[in-house]
Amino acid sequence: MKVSASALAMGLAVAPQALAWGGLGHITTAYVASKFVSNTTEAFYKELLRSDEPDYLARVATWADSIRYSKWARFTKNFHFIDAHDNPPHDCNVDFERDCKEDGCVISALANYTQQSLDHDLAPWLRAQAAKFVIHFVGDLHQPLHNEDVSRGGNGIYVNFDGHNLNLHHVWDSSIAEKWIGGIHRKPYPAAEKWANELALAITDGKFAEEKEAWLKDLNFDDPIATAMAWSRECNALICTHVLPEGPEAIVGKELGGEYFDKAGPVIERQVARGGYRMAAWLEEIAMRYQAQQEPGLELMSEEL
Ligand SMILES: *[C@@H]1O[C@H](CO)[C@@H](O)[C@H](O)[C@H]1NC(C)=O
Ligand SMILES: *[C@@H]1O[C@H](CO)[C@@H](O)[C@H](O)[C@H]1NC(C)=O
Repeated sequence: MKVSASALAMGLAVAPQALAWGGLGHITTAYVASKFVSNTTEAFYKELLRSDEPDYLARVATWADSIRYSKWARFTKNFHFIDAHDNPPHDCNVDFERDCKEDGCVISALANYTQQSLDHDLAPWLRAQAAKFVIHFVGDLHQPLHNEDVSRGGNGIYVNFDGHNLNLHHVWDSSIAEKWIGGIHRKPYPAAEKWANELALAITDGKFAEEKEAWLKDLNFDDPIATAMAWSRECNALICTHVLPEGPEAIVGKELGGEYFDKAGPVIERQVARGGYRMAAWLEEIAMRYQAQQEPGLELMSEEL
């Protein structure tokens, strides 16, 4: 799919590579998750992540981005997305065999770090690292442009947002979410926590209450690849309906802060809410299974005593 050469050239010249799904999206998703985990899962992760604070998940949600460009973590650079080679707006789809790069993608990464999270032979600091990757990649899976190839996930498509010239990836990572909640005023954590409280209410008792069950219908802990693919397909479908409804060329240079934002805002809201709800369910499974594997050993020990 081609975007005008000038837009591409500009993208290459200007872009400080936009970081994955902006801080606000990741942090809020993790805060939402922390509202829905059981107290035993909370205790499990507080110990693993060495934090006793209410933000024990939220504070590690952007760690994977912070290390992404450091030398030791270069191998993780493709773990944040899957480049769906589809054809929006006519045909949106994701194919694991076709789209996951040889050295990995967000789908294989979620499976990999989920498996590491369950590994009793892994040092606790590595399981903590795996937890931070899991938390981050569940978030990334819910940003549409992390599930799309066109112009490097929209990084090379330049648009306007409330008068600012930005790339489309950044708009979907950050600008829409930030505008949706009325701005973050340089303080993402309090803004995210407040937003997460509202989303948790909407999930428990409000506009998302009826659909939340369906959010978990594809969750199959025994098949992380299939689960991540289902979430990825659902998210990628939004490329055709909301991100590039008229295709990649039509959006270049357009102002997206108006009508486009009005349609995109609710999409982002739902993605953050269901990402957080699913993250809670996923972490719940990890904690439960890790602890279940531990029990035979413990019983043996108490018998010996
Ligand atoms: C979790 O809650 C249950 C029931 O409210 C309680 O019995 C249990 O001690 C709590 N566990 C932890 C780890 O806080
Ligand atoms: C799984 O994680 C390990 C440790 O971070 C990494 O070295 C490896 O490349 C990953 N494998 C895949 C297939 O993602």
